[in-house]
Amino acid sequence: MKKVVIFGATSGIGKVLVDLFVKEGCKVAITGRRLVKLEEIKAKYPEKILIKQNDIQEINEVERVFLEIVKEFGAIDIVVQSSGVGYVNPDLAWDKEQETILTNVLGVTKLYDLTYNLFREQGYGHLVGISSIASLRGNRAAPAYFASKAYQKAYLESLYIKTKTIKSKQVFITDIRPGFVDTAMALGDGIFWMVSLEKATEQIFQAIKRKKRVAYISKRWRIIAFALKLTPSWLLKKVI
Ligand SMILES: NC(=O)c1ccc[n+]([C@@H]2O[C@H](COP(=O)([O-])OP(=O)(O)OC[C@H]3O[C@@H](n4cnc5c(N)ncnc54)[C@H](OP(=O)(O)O)[C@@H]3O)[C@@H](O)[C@H]2O)c1
Repeated sequence: MKKVVIFGATSGIGKVLVDLFVKEGCKVAITGRRLVKLEEIKAKYPEKILIKQNDIQEINEVERVFLEIVKEFGAIDIVVQSSGVGYVNPDLAWDKEQETILTNVLGVTKLYDLTYNLFREQGYGHLVGISSIASLRGNRAAPAYFASKAYQKAYLESLYIKTKTIKSKQVFITDIRPGFVDTAMALGDGIFWMVSLEKATEQIFQAIKRKKRVAYISKRWRIIAFALKLTPSWLLKKVI
């Protein structure tokens, strides 16, 4: 039975992934700040779920919780990092900038590092980060969010390159880059190509099973990604 850890499992993508992993017969450790939500999931699958309330901004707590899960599970096969915040913040309000950095950069780095080091020791494991299409370019309305996602993208790629030093070749790194998914997180007005949470999560689940290096969700966001990578900054400034 595979042992899976999902950070940010109390809502949205992380929560639906819990259902999919449980249906596959996995045991799943779930985290997030909202204890009530964690307990609701535990009540649904009492034998399959381990809950750990956690604020990912508190990096010492992230380490404590992570080590507790490792101790209780013995070994971990998959870690999914889905926790995150995002704000439309055109006025650059500092509280929002700071929360975004502490959550999406500081906390996430701590989790990536704990996971990578565990998998290196185990000789196997699969780290899945949910970054975003936002990782590809800058944006005037939500600079901290877009920059935090660019950071995650680069960090995941770095860990992927680093797996070259692991002899077993059984450590995998996946970067999931959703476009707009219908959750509380979907940022801004005039949202287009919004994908339902169920469809997005099913595609994410399939990408995890295939151990894909990078996956755009939904798949047609690959076209936008291609165009974004080619667009010069001056044109980006004109159109978005
Ligand atoms: N929805 C989209 O359109 C979209 C697009 C691209 C990328 N993404 C990415 O997908 C991931 C999942 O987002 P979602 O759409 O599923 O949104 P969501 O429903 O808001 O889920 C966010 C999750 O992050 C957790 N979280 C936030 N701050 C936390 C903190 N300080 N400590 C611990 N957990 C925290 C939340 O749990 P608690 O509140 O209980 O702590 C929740 O479980 C995010 O990384 C997001 O950036 C989403």
